[in-house]
Amino acid sequence: MTVALRLVSLSFFLFLFACQSNPYQQGEILYVNFCSNCHMTDGSGLQNLIPPLNNSDYLKNKNNVIACAIRNGVSGELNIDGKVFNNEMEAIPVLNNIEITNIINYIQYTWGDGTYAQNPEIKKALEGCAGRYGTY
Ligand code: HEC
Repeated sequence: MTVALRLVSLSFFLFLFACQSNPYQQGEILYVNFCSNCHMTDGSGLQNLIPPLNNSDYLKNKNNVIACAIRNGVSGELNIDGKVFNNEMEAIPVLNNIEITNIINYIQYTWGDGTYAQNPEIKKALEGCAGRYGTY
């Protein structure tokens, strides 16, 4: 292995380590990987197809809704700030409770009401998901 390659892999592991040790950064990285394709990096969504996540009023006090959306997916008609969405979001079952908590905190801290969700609160919310959001 060349020195340059070693340095690259070392910095990659340091990078991974740094991410894991900071929940906000983990939330941001997970958001970029799992959500931004559809909801956009700035959380603005896409026209009438994908709802925004950066509207602070809409997601205020809705940590449970975000948690269940990620775990179970979303379908059916949604009316968000006068705009109607009737599309489908697949469940993302690979994300565990802690990862979901970190994503929610990233969303709420960056665009939302700034409230801080704790793991136990999100764990409880996830146990209470009734099924697909939109079918409630
Ligand atoms: C493949 C595209 C796609 C991905 C990836 C995706 N979503 Fe969605 N999401 C949607 C669509 C489409 C809807 C609207 C579904 C409907 O109309 O019923 C939605 C709805 C939602 C809702 C409920 C509506 C709202 O605005 O409150 C939340 C919350 C949400 N997504 C959060 C997330 C989060 C967090 C992630 C990443 C972990 C994510 N989504 C990943 C497409 C996606």
